[in-house]
Amino acid sequence: MDEPQLGCAVKPRPEGRFIHHWLIIIIALLTTAPAGFAQAILEGERFHPSIGHHGMVATSHNVATEVALKVLQDGGNAVDAAVTAGFALAVTQPRSGNIGGGGFMLIAKGDGSAPEAIDYRETAPAAATETMFQDESGQVNAELSRFSHLAAGVPGTVAGLALALERHGTISLKDALGPAIKLARDGFVVPRRFTEGLEQARPRLEPWPASMKAFYKRNGNAYQPGDIFRQPDLTKTLQRIAREGVAGFYEGKTARLIAAEMKNHGGLITEDDLKAYQPVVRQPVHGTYRGYDIYSMSPPSSGGTHIVQILNILEGFPIRESGHNSADNIHWMAEAMKLAYADRSQYLGDTDFVQVPLTGLTSKDYAESLRSGISKDQARPASDIRPGAPEDFESPETTHFSVVDQWGNAVSNTYTINFSYGSGITVTGAGFLLNNEMDDFSAKPGVPNAYGLIGGEANKVEAGKRMLSSMSPTIVQKDGKTFLVTGSPGGSRIITTTLQVIMNVIDHGMNIQTAVNAPRIHHQWLPDVIRIEQGISPDTVRLLESRGHSVSESSAMGAIQSIMVDEDGTLYGAGDPRRSTSSARGY
Ligand code: GLY
Repeated sequence: MDEPQLGCAVKPRPEGRFIHHWLIIIIALLTTAPAGFAQAILEGERFHPSIGHHGMVATSHNVATEVALKVLQDGGNAVDAAVTAGFALAVTQPRSGNIGGGGFMLIAKGDGSAPEAIDYRETAPAAATETMFQDESGQVNAELSRFSHLAAGVPGTVAGLALALERHGTISLKDALGPAIKLARDGFVVPRRFTEGLEQARPRLEPWPASMKAFYKRNGNAYQPGDIFRQPDLTKTLQRIAREGVAGFYEGKTARLIAAEMKNHGGLITEDDLKAYQPVVRQPVHGTYRGYDIYSMSPPSSGGTHIVQILNILEGFPIRESGHNSADNIHWMAEAMKLAYADRSQYLGDTDFVQVPLTGLTSKDYAESLRSGISKDQARPASDIRPGAPEDFESPETTHFSVVDQWGNAVSNTYTINFSYGSGITVTGAGFLLNNEMDDFSAKPGVPNAYGLIGGEANKVEAGKRMLSSMSPTIVQKDGKTFLVTGSPGGSRIITTTLQVIMNVIDHGMNIQTAVNAPRIHHQWLPDVIRIEQGISPDTVRLLESRGHSVSESSAMGAIQSIMVDEDGTLYGAGDPRRSTSSARGY
């Protein structure tokens, strides 16, 4: 039988544009729908999500999706599956999912309580200093913050995933590591993306013998599509964690290997830094958008704050009526994005070290004041925009995956080693790459990082501090029930990617796969340009240019892995086709 005509309850459509579609819906309601549910029909749409009734996993690698789905099918919950996926991705996608990095996880229980966040962002080592990436004349040396042993923050992934399991899981850390160990030891079939990534990253990995040993054949060639790729050193590291728990990473042999790697190459991380690392349970940022509750990551990520801020600004514009990716909508989005990224440059940092005006930045009043400065038909030059004045200072290549289980528990997780393949440096004898997350600090206030993001005093390097992030694992609830679980990689574009998928679903009534696939735009204040993906029409671009915008076509932005939950509990999963190995699977 064909896929049953099930659908998402939330399908507001621009009026008058989908009469045929609505006719089908009405017929379906009269014929097949259980009473009480608004129904939509996926038949006739261009893109189709994966459908599940008990559980759903969406990750950027099909092998990780499969092992996590198996955990759900065996009776595990969303946290069990998410942690299993997190470790599996560290094996199958070492360029971004990785135990040498850090990230953020949002967890919402099926009982409708507000989500909690686990912050396992990397920290600056104890010996880090404000000027460590500047030379004697105060010039920033980006080579140091990106491609040297100084670039690495103290990794948080192992501690963060273990904490999630300890707080909410039902399986042991050893069990969650089982599939990852098997994949590292026995190997997995190399996809084309893996080979291409290694060819691109070769100049960065080549200087480091441990990276060549871990990721290339003995003769220096990259593994080819269809080859089996095994990781013996990583296998041993994962086995130590399975045996000894987090101490298998932060103490003992793994810690000694990391500290030796640092000592031999002028890095800063010591065994004491590793032993001292602690993940933190935080309250996510909360906002509302057209009756939906938005929960996303709080500092040290800027993601949630600015998603809520931009949505607050846009709530006052007729987004739905103006049509998806119309010149009006792109104009409003770009203007709102500029204002948010200008504020980011000034105010955002690790709240354990600096005060961040979160209440002000996410307030509807502040958004209204910002919105009133947006012209209907004229772009505001970035040079005219300065960070605003939010009130209420309170007292004193990344990867994402989403999981929902049969009890309605949801996990949204984004983690990273910053660049694709991080610093390019593999810990000798331990088999995993080190992050280059220290570049997310402001090496010097006002000097942009690798993503062109400007940071201020609030994000200067300090010992033990977490560097500012854009990662935005997000859970949207409707009437206390999980509605959307989403998040993306993409550096500075994480925030705007996540934002647009939320809007595509809420404003434009798209099914989740259509919402994920739709062309995206991005503006980050500086540089003063709207980046667009292929698929925005040339006449729309001309209209934007006539309003004073610079527009430039960019390569694909983000790789958002999302799940939408219908009122009746039906699950819709969407892997982002921008990453060829993405997959969403339900059961
Ligand atoms: N390393 C990118 C981010 O955390 O935003």
